[in-house]
Amino acid sequence: MADTVALKESFSVALNSVTNMEELEKIRVEYLGKKGFITELMQEMKSLTPEEKKTFGQAVNVLKNEVNDAITAKREELKQKEIELENSRMPLFDLSMPPVLDRGSYHPITLVQRQCEEVFRSMGFAIEDYSEIVTDYECFEALNIPKNHPARDMQDTYYLDNGQLLKSHTSAAQNAIYKKYKDALINEGKPIKAIFPGRCFRNEATDACHENTFFQMEGVMVDKNISISNLIFFMKTMLSEVFQKDIKVRLRPGFFPFVEPGFELDISCLICGGEGCPSCKHSGWLELCPCGMIHPEVLKAGGIDPEEYTGFAFGLGLTRLAMMKYGVKDIRDLNSGSLKVLSQFTDDK
Ligand code: DAH
Repeated sequence: MADTVALKESFSVALNSVTNMEELEKIRVEYLGKKGFITELMQEMKSLTPEEKKTFGQAVNVLKNEVNDAITAKREELKQKEIELENSRMPLFDLSMPPVLDRGSYHPITLVQRQCEEVFRSMGFAIEDYSEIVTDYECFEALNIPKNHPARDMQDTYYLDNGQLLKSHTSAAQNAIYKKYKDALINEGKPIKAIFPGRCFRNEATDACHENTFFQMEGVMVDKNISISNLIFFMKTMLSEVFQKDIKVRLRPGFFPFVEPGFELDISCLICGGEGCPSCKHSGWLELCPCGMIHPEVLKAGGIDPEEYTGFAFGLGLTRLAMMKYGVKDIRDLNSGSLKVLSQFTDDK
């Protein structure tokens, strides 16, 4: 008959060495899982006499409950530690600090934008500026979103009396960028590599996570044989530079009419490093950047033959990135114009 006391001891030793949720889950499976030690003990009972079954069964049950309770308690303890850790890592931005008024400072979005530009510039990307007022063709039709397409509902757009509109996403510049660079691509074999940061506008009800005015940074790369691996490489490099640590990324399928296939790019949670914490809802991942392989119709609209060329595009939320990087919890602080908020950011943070 297996020894429940020895098993309990080995469990206690294992539990004591646990430092994160993943390890805890591993131990839970090892002891309580379908093929776990305790489950195996239960199976041993089949071969025992009725008398033995009684005492052994009781001992196993007690052990099982103890193990269960210990795991639950450890889970709570780890959660509490995560919360403390999260709070201790968020001091970069503190509304209770007095404003620094003796010198100017850059807006946090400007800081993040410049860092991203620097990284992409070093990888050979051109930085393009594009107007905030665009046509319906640029913002939607050239991006494979015809009139009355339901995808237009995703972006509640501000229209002007003359039929133009305030750009609801930086993708609106894609068509102009393709047209600007396509000759160099086709005639000289120069890949199109460009980023275009800019302000976007949507008719949103504002709250801590939504604003009617926000910043995105669109990026595109078009050449022969561009694939999803190129996209992953550039995003990973850029994010690791911006956050100054190795950032893991993953892709999930996502729908956007101007890319096929389309993805949501997630990064490993910056707070817990991917182990799971309240900020990432215990998933270990944060949604950061939609992207995909440019849809053939979009390339065609830009004068590029999709049979010959492929490319990727991404739309990075600069506002969101700044919030993550600096631990800003309310998006409205960023457009507030309040010196108390904005004077806290400096280049080196
Ligand atoms: N333009 C999209 C938006 O604002 C974001 C986006 C999604 C841009 C996928 C992309 C992309 O370049 O590939 O909702």
